[in-house]
Amino acid sequence: MRIPTIIGNWKMNTTLQTGLELVNALAKDLNNVPDREVGVCPPFIYLAEIKKVIQSTNIKLGAQNMHWEAKGAFTAEISATMLKDIGCDYVIIGHSERRHIFSETDQMINKKIKAALNTQLTPVFCVGEQLEEREKGTTDQVLRQQVEKGLNELTAEQINNIIIAYEPVWAIGTGKTATPAQAQEAHLFVRNLISRLTDETVAQNVRILYGGSVKPDNAGELMIQPDVDGALVGGASLEAGSFSKIVKYEIN
Ligand code: PGA
Repeated sequence: MRIPTIIGNWKMNTTLQTGLELVNALAKDLNNVPDREVGVCPPFIYLAEIKKVIQSTNIKLGAQNMHWEAKGAFTAEISATMLKDIGCDYVIIGHSERRHIFSETDQMINKKIKAALNTQLTPVFCVGEQLEEREKGTTDQVLRQQVEKGLNELTAEQINNIIIAYEPVWAIGTGKTATPAQAQEAHLFVRNLISRLTDETVAQNVRILYGGSVKPDNAGELMIQPDVDGALVGGASLEAGSFSKIVKYEIN
């Protein structure tokens, strides 16, 4: 049974004040939503303050990135140990903005996933093709490479503890959502890859979230797809009303 999981990625947005207002509103709105796992991923410097607001709620806390080393001379980097120390549950790894704007490679992503798992943080491992790759018909190839390299040398037990987010790059922040059929096709492809890397039990356990312009009015049609287990939400997670509606999505 894969519990529907909705995670908000705030990216480089909010101030401390507006972030606290947002999370206070979510704590109220989402207090009594059964059968959902909900998380927010604020900027690093607000994590500890946001944690204070949500610690007595069932909203989980995530970071948007981390370094793979535990400590040392890595100016401005943040380790998994530090994130765990202030109460994070998740960490987003390999977001397309990290891959494409900050040149993160599959090898770096693999090291981060291993370090997160070794620290008992749940990696939210992002994969997804760019528009040219979809148009050239290489989506499957791109996803295969990202999944295989990102999960290189991990045991089935470790893979069982990962959340995957399929985020087609052309849908992120563009208002252009993948159709439910496109999302389902990619999610099933990724689940079959996981089955090949591990076994069918793990593949059926692993949650695969969809990300890319998820809004209250398209959440339900995406979530009803059999292999879509939740959403990683950017823009629409910055407003309590829209994020709460996505969390409470209804399937018509
Ligand atoms: P978006 O971002 O919802 O604004 O498209 C999703 C993401 O980047 O995780």
